[in-house]
Amino acid sequence: MAKIVVFGSRGNIGGHLVETLYPQMGQELRLISSSQEGVSDLSARYPNADTRYGDLSSPESIQAAIKDAERVFVMYPDFEFDEEASTLAMIQAVRDTPTIKQVVRLLGVVSLVEEDDIPLSFRQQPAMPCWVHFRGRQLWRQSGLPVTFINPWSWYMQSLPWLAARGVVEQDTFCLPFSHTLPYIDTRDISEVAAKVLTEPVEKYVNEELALTGHEDDCFSFEELAEQFSEHLEREISYSGSISLFEQLLGEGAAPLLKYIGWEQSIVKEYRAHTDTVERLLGRQPRRFADWLRQTREQFAPLMVEAG
Ligand SMILES: NC(=O)c1ccc[n+]([C@@H]2O[C@H](COP(=O)([O-])OP(=O)(O)OC[C@H]3O[C@@H](n4cnc5c(N)ncnc54)[C@H](OP(=O)(O)O)[C@@H]3O)[C@@H](O)[C@H]2O)c1
Repeated sequence: MAKIVVFGSRGNIGGHLVETLYPQMGQELRLISSSQEGVSDLSARYPNADTRYGDLSSPESIQAAIKDAERVFVMYPDFEFDEEASTLAMIQAVRDTPTIKQVVRLLGVVSLVEEDDIPLSFRQQPAMPCWVHFRGRQLWRQSGLPVTFINPWSWYMQSLPWLAARGVVEQDTFCLPFSHTLPYIDTRDISEVAAKVLTEPVEKYVNEELALTGHEDDCFSFEELAEQFSEHLEREISYSGSISLFEQLLGEGAAPLLKYIGWEQSIVKEYRAHTDTVERLLGRQPRRFADWLRQTREQFAPLMVEAG
C-alpha cells in the first residue's frame, strides 16, 4: 500500500524529496505528475513506486491520488494556479479519506508579512505567491486536519537560473530589479527536511510550522549576488537593476515577477533571517551558496561565439 503521496515529484523540491525517500521506501511511495510524459519519466526512474497521473486543479483527481494513503506532500507551481480552490478540494479529499494521518504542505510566507500587507489586487486570479501561501495556511489551520507546514523564509538558490541565467550567459550581467537583501536556501535542504518529517512518527511534527532558511551567512542583496557570481564563476559579472533589460531577457514571464519582487522590496529592504531548523532536523549545517553556484556553473557559462 502506498504510504506517502508526493505531488510535484519532478519539481525542485518534490524531485529531490523522491530521490531521498526512494532507496528506503520505493514501494511505499505514490508519485504524482500532471502530465503523461511526467508519469512515464517517473515510472522509468522509480520502477518500484506507484506512479500516477494527478491534477491538483481537479477535485476528483486529488481524491483518487490520495486514496488509501497515510501521508501527503503537497506543493504548487508558482504564478499559475488557483491554489485556494485546490486547497479546499484537498481539504475535502482528506476529510473523505480516513487513512490520511498527515499532510505536509509547502509554504512561502515570511515572518514579517501580515495579511494587511498583501494588496487586494494580489488576491485575484492568478494570485501572487505571497497571498496563495498565506491563504493556504489559513484554510489548513481552519480545517483542524493534521498538517505540518514547511515554510522556507528564503529565496531558492535553484530559482536563480530561471531569474537571471540568460543575462549572465549572454551579457555577463546579473539583472534583477528591486534589489533587497534576503536569505537563500538550497532546495535540497527543504526536500531533506520534508523527507525527515514524512518518515518520523506523525505526532512529532503534526500541527507545527517549520520555518527554514539556508546558512546564516548566505543572505545577499542582488548587487551582492552579482559579486558572488563574479567570484565563483571566475569572470566579471556586473549588476543591473534595469526593468527594461529584465523584460527583454525574461519576455512574457517578466511582468508577474516584477510585480511580486517590487512589492516584496517595498515590505523588506534588509531581511537577514536565520532559523536553526535545518541543523536541528538534519544534524548538519545548511548547504552553502558558493558550493551550489560552483556545482551549477555550467548553467551560467558564457555563450561561445564561433570565430569566422
Ligand atoms: N522560488 C523561491 O524562491 C520560493 C521561495 C519560497 C517558496 N516558494 C514556493 O515553492 C513552490 C515551487 O516549488 P518548486 O520550485 O519545487 O516547484 P517547481 O520545480 O516549479 O515544480 C512544480 C511542480 O508542480 C507540478 N505541477 C504543475 N502543475 C500541476 C498540476 N496541475 N497538478 C499537480 N502537479 C502539478 C509539476 O509537476 P508535473 O509537471 O510533473 O505535474 C512540478 O513538479 C511555489 O509554491 C513557490 O511559491 C518558492
